Amino acid sequence: MNQFLLAPSILSADFARLGEDVSRALSAGGDMIHFDVMDGHYVNNLTMGPMILKSLRNFNIQVPIDVHLMTKPVDSFIPSFADAGANFITFHPEATNHIDNTINLIKTCGCKAGLSLNPSTSIHYLDYILDKLDMIVLMTVNPGFSNQNLIPSIIPKIRNVRKIIDTSNFDILLEVDGGIKVDNILDIALAGANVFVLGSVLFDSIDYTIVLNKIRSKLSLCLNNF
Ligand code: DX5
Ligand code: ZN
Repeated sequence: MNQFLLAPSILSADFARLGEDVSRALSAGGDMIHFDVMDGHYVNNLTMGPMILKSLRNFNIQVPIDVHLMTKPVDSFIPSFADAGANFITFHPEATNHIDNTINLIKTCGCKAGLSLNPSTSIHYLDYILDKLDMIVLMTVNPGFSNQNLIPSIIPKIRNVRKIIDTSNFDILLEVDGGIKVDNILDIALAGANVFVLGSVLFDSIDYTIVLNKIRSKLSLCLNNF
């Protein structure tokens, strides 16, 4: 497995040709699909439900799909996304009343569990649940829309969470979501992230392979630092 995983965010894909566009992103080198679910309550935007995820599976998209729930409530959506073919389900702690129960529900439904923290959300939410998490998602923009600028003050937060993961010895992925571009990905990787959500940087480009090659070559500079 690559040390770094690239996760095309289909929020920026061409919805009229979603299957083909996602296949193109994977052929260009994407490792997993990031699937943003927005409900108009937790964030001011409305996106996709489980039927679309199921359609991607029916289109023979086989890579892991990482469902990022920006919904409130959370729990009622988990079984349907799991049935549709999700591998990871990530949620925001402020959106549920019982974080531990929500993680348990995700696991009971056969998925891996991720906790997503907004730029201003404290990392103390990670206390007492690290042993149950498969992924921590640090939002590098405020959730709701693609194509925003990364908030640079999150870089120290990435370093802090990397230390927490390494000290714990648990096998937890550290994903960053929002505003990741060719010219900032190296700093983010050096801070400790290992899964990179790529929305507009990829889908707004003409040649996906060129973009992902540029990104892999930046990340290879980071590999030399380990
Ligand atoms: C924002 C979403 C992101 C978004 C990233 O709320 O969670 O996944 O699609 O898009 P870019 O990479 O364009 O910031
Ligand atoms: Zn997302």
